[in-house]
Amino acid sequence: MKIILVYGGQSPEHEVSIMSAYAILQAIFYSYYEVTPVYIQKNGRFKIGDVLHEAPTEMDSLRLLQQAEVEPTSLYQPEALVFPCLHGPNGEDGTFQGFLETLNMPYVGCGVLASACGMDKIVTKNLMLQAGIPQVPFVPVIQDIWKENPRAIFERIEGALLYPMYVKPANMGSSVGITRVEDRESLQKALGQAFQFDRRVIVEQGIDAREIEVALLGNHEVRTSLPGEVKKPVDFYDYQTKYENQDVELVIPAVLAPETQEKVLQYAKQAYQILAATGLSRCDFFVTNSGEVFFNEINTMPGFTPKSMYPALWQERGLSYGDLIEELIQLGLNRFRQKQERQQSLTK
Ligand SMILES: Nc1ncnc2c1ncn2[C@@H]1O[C@H](COP(=O)(O)OP(=O)(O)O)[C@@H](O)[C@H]1O
Ligand SMILES: [Mg+2]
Repeated sequence: MKIILVYGGQSPEHEVSIMSAYAILQAIFYSYYEVTPVYIQKNGRFKIGDVLHEAPTEMDSLRLLQQAEVEPTSLYQPEALVFPCLHGPNGEDGTFQGFLETLNMPYVGCGVLASACGMDKIVTKNLMLQAGIPQVPFVPVIQDIWKENPRAIFERIEGALLYPMYVKPANMGSSVGITRVEDRESLQKALGQAFQFDRRVIVEQGIDAREIEVALLGNHEVRTSLPGEVKKPVDFYDYQTKYENQDVELVIPAVLAPETQEKVLQYAKQAYQILAATGLSRCDFFVTNSGEVFFNEINTMPGFTPKSMYPALWQERGLSYGDLIEELIQLGLNRFRQKQERQQSLTK
């Protein structure tokens, strides 16, 4: 069977994606699969590598320096499954998934809808709000409206939220463009910064809480891991802390009261189903010392490096990294088969 592993991409999470892809290439079962690496460079241009029958030994070889650029549609191969190992905008947000739907290729992970909704913090929060899943208070800010009357926006934000607040671009990831602010002056600066990444921004009430994450796996029937905790030396889990700081500790499973754990798992499953997620997702929460649970976000293509929470949570449940990849491949193929069956029965 042919696998096309796509990585890199135009998002700020380019390097993270390469690390995830490298780890996947170490673990994939080469006795069943041959893998074609497809590298999307930072400029958005595609490169296709030679077919791999064994794990590459150097991460840098994934940059395919010797290869010429090709058209995106060149990745098409009949009977091949695509593994989009792409994080952030243009990869995790449904755009690439839409491209694969158009090519009618099977792929790993969430479809267009779940990817697009999950990537957008405002849309996700509104969906969870409607389902009654608890979240910290938030105010969405649209750039054009803010420009028209910044003062009114400040008043609305300060009327609804208390400092410290978190200012985030609606569509990003890996903490890129996010600032913790303590007063109006820094709020103003942070909004300007966030608008460099997106015309839609969300301002949230900051809370002092533990960061608890749950791994989800499945299509119609979804399984949850036990929750894990990210323990970090700083308040704000920023990009550097996430990928460079050695002091981040993953506690798996997280030490939680049984009723708190129950809530976290239930909300995670609910969030997955509300988004119509398939394949995989990681659902992140804040849990206060008094046991209050707040949904933070859902990541439809969570970090997949050897140090990442998602594979580690499954490891704890007895599912190895290699077996996890195998399951994701099967889930992607199943979803595609079901779609094809539906199409066939409609055209009969
Ligand atoms: N409302 C909040 N209160 C406290 N800390 C927050 C809040 N929002 C975000 N953070 C901190 O910022 C980090 C990144 O925010 P998050 O919403 O998870 O964005 P990303 O999609 O970039 O991961 C979180 O892991 C957490 O450390
Ligand atoms: Mg996060």
